[in-house]
Amino acid sequence: MAQHYRITLLPGDGIGPEIMTVAVQVLERIGEKFDLVFEWTEALIGGSAIDATGEPFPAATLEACLNSDSILLAAIGGYKWDSLPRNLRPETGLLALRSSLNLFANLRPATILPQLIEASTLKRDVVEGVDIMVVRELTGGLYFGQPRGIFTTETGEKRGVNTMTYTESEIDRIGHVAFQTAMKRRKKLCSVDKCNVLEVSQLWRDTIIALSSEYPEVELTHMYVDNATMQLIRNPKQFDTIVTSNLFGDILSDAAAMLTGSIGMLPSASLSHPGKPGVYEPVHGSAPDIAGQDKSNPLAQILSAAMMLRYDLNQSAAADAIEAAVITVLDQGYRTGDIASEGMTIVGCKAMGEALLKALG
Ligand code: IPM
Ligand code: MG
Repeated sequence: MAQHYRITLLPGDGIGPEIMTVAVQVLERIGEKFDLVFEWTEALIGGSAIDATGEPFPAATLEACLNSDSILLAAIGGYKWDSLPRNLRPETGLLALRSSLNLFANLRPATILPQLIEASTLKRDVVEGVDIMVVRELTGGLYFGQPRGIFTTETGEKRGVNTMTYTESEIDRIGHVAFQTAMKRRKKLCSVDKCNVLEVSQLWRDTIIALSSEYPEVELTHMYVDNATMQLIRNPKQFDTIVTSNLFGDILSDAAAMLTGSIGMLPSASLSHPGKPGVYEPVHGSAPDIAGQDKSNPLAQILSAAMMLRYDLNQSAAADAIEAAVITVLDQGYRTGDIASEGMTIVGCKAMGEALLKALG
């Protein structure tokens, strides 16, 4: 009996639709091989939702997401919507998706593939073997804290305010995800904070330390965020799993991503509590400069689909097959422009998709 899954697709903006098309083709093929049937529902988010409905995260999209087993998102945003008021920006739609589905845990792996070492801007001996998982808190901290806004003081001067806040329970739940993630990896967890300056970080550190007694096998260390940024570039191999707050995780995950040479290769998972749908999306953005030209790299989207199979649908053999097909096409020398190096076959998004389908057999 085939397993049925309801998947909501959020192609979004820019290169989103073209990489999503390839991901759906790959998943359809995987379905044939592993006896899985996907029921797709496409919904609007970001700039394309603003154009069609006037809102970046329409109620119909939330409804579709809540009624699905899992959600595959491509990318949002573009120049066209950059000057709209904040409540009408594509990014606001993404933040609304995260908070309304309670996606508090964001897993961002940064793994360097031997085939792509030359694409990194760092030296081979620094990046060879890098395998880091950034666990970013995604629904709290500075991104969501109140009060926020631009206010006018009594003297008539403008004052911008955001609030960095975490409760113990918010730190606890992301801490558990991080320790459990580390347990499945090399059992090393580095918690990144700024507790030499910030009270909210002091509570973060104290709470993570208290949790650590439940995970005696995990070696826990702490690092200030400025030092962590430096260490990621200096000696990234010292890291296994990193856990940090929303803002710090935003910044550190971009730095970790770039160690691997191309942000175009990296998937991510945003998870809520077990049994609730997660959102799987590439770490990269919507690349409006190359949208619609068949120049994009679909591999991060494909690898996000593999993460979806592994985490939400419990189909790890199918996930393995996708990851193996990605390695195969790289070994065959296929490269999109962003990961191109000498002697390789430069292909567009569609041709990369065809090579993947061939590799899947
Ligand atoms: C990310 C992005 C988003 C963030 C933006 C688009 C709102 O940078 O997913 O890392 O800041 O979280
Ligand atoms: Mg970011």
